[in-house]
Amino acid sequence: MPNFPPDFLWGVSTASYQIEGAVRDDGRGVSIWDTFSHTPGRVRDGDTGDVACDHYHRWPQDVDLLAELGVGAYRFSIAWPRVQPTGTGPAVAKGLDFYDRLVDALLGRGIAPVPTLFHWDLPQALEDAGGWLSRDTAHHFADYTAAVADRLGDRVRRWITLNEPVVHMAEGYALGTHAPGRELMLDALPVAHHQLLAHGLAVRALRERGAAEVMITNNCTPVWPAGDGEDDLVAAAVYDGFHNRLFLDPVLRGEYPPFAAGLVDAGVVRDGDMDVIATLMDALGINYYNPTRVKAAPDGAPLPFETVEIDGVPRTAFGWPVVPDGLRELLVGLHEHYAGVLPPIYITENGCSTVDVSGDDGRVHDAARVDYLDAHLRSLHEAIVAGVDVRGYFVWSLLDNFEWAEGYSQRFGLVRVDYDTQRRTPKDSFAWLRAALAEQR
Ligand code: NOJ
Repeated sequence: MPNFPPDFLWGVSTASYQIEGAVRDDGRGVSIWDTFSHTPGRVRDGDTGDVACDHYHRWPQDVDLLAELGVGAYRFSIAWPRVQPTGTGPAVAKGLDFYDRLVDALLGRGIAPVPTLFHWDLPQALEDAGGWLSRDTAHHFADYTAAVADRLGDRVRRWITLNEPVVHMAEGYALGTHAPGRELMLDALPVAHHQLLAHGLAVRALRERGAAEVMITNNCTPVWPAGDGEDDLVAAAVYDGFHNRLFLDPVLRGEYPPFAAGLVDAGVVRDGDMDVIATLMDALGINYYNPTRVKAAPDGAPLPFETVEIDGVPRTAFGWPVVPDGLRELLVGLHEHYAGVLPPIYITENGCSTVDVSGDDGRVHDAARVDYLDAHLRSLHEAIVAGVDVRGYFVWSLLDNFEWAEGYSQRFGLVRVDYDTQRRTPKDSFAWLRAALAEQR
């Protein structure tokens, strides 16, 4: 692997609902993912996050794994319903105790905690009141953020407000493939604005509490038109608008891309909102998995674009195309497009699901993950050499975990989890990364 800058931050990522389990412990309230996963037909094989990796009870062992891996940072998420079971009102001490202990344990091993405040597990009571379609949710999020920061802010320096608001809007509210399972198509757009408003309010709440570095984590993708025709070029631009610009222009430039002007007309955007949303961030988190190829949709289709397969490249177990150079392309593209307003970047997620082979030696062979990570890190390094200011890289994920609508069928971990016994087995990719990080040091 090429040499990264000496102070480059290396980490791994997880999220609360995907690993914690213990959904009824210590007063945790019901989240939209509890409801969704317990609704027949929503998640593959009827899987739920009730137990997941049982991280809520086994976290000391997981912190040991982080230390063994040699990462300098760990990105995890805080479950809002552990802190406020119904999303409002006083914080539950025991819920916060869990994260308090985790933060102390991480710091004790020299690992920087990087909490994400919202990784999709909204308290169900807030969803019942409108969820992210309701402006109130943004203000509740700011209160929740303040409660968490009051407790952890003396030790946590770096915070992430929201994880992938585009995916939460698209899959959760437009298409209905994720919780809360609403199928509003373009009527889901206010969900973008209310999440962005929540982000801006949270940045302010964190700053007031002395946070050193605050960012949002967006899922970004290079968009490739399927053909040279005008209709495909337009479709690709529209897709780019929805997926990338809708969540970058407001935070970096304080304005929506023109296609989202309807939000303003609809009265969703109120005076002062854009200033709140554009509150200066110290960094930008980017999750990269693959590029997206787009063509024009037929007349009368519900959306003005269609995604099409990228041929001639390897695929992950999920079927996602493996295009390492897409990471360089994405970063250089952002660097140029947002010149002057782009803050330093952290790659807050990158990784792949694999079909792992368990050897007679008891080891788990995931050569495809090693190849994926190696190639993406080389691509990332090229972006840095090209002048993009990238400060860190986090692998998704430390552990195999609950992959949303795919349940436990997709394994993204550097560590294999046997869900019957909860046994953790570091895979070959874990050993590879560990050696690569040691070399970087
Ligand atoms: C992004 C999401 O943030 C994470 O929760 C998910 O597991 C990975 N992508 C893989 O799909």
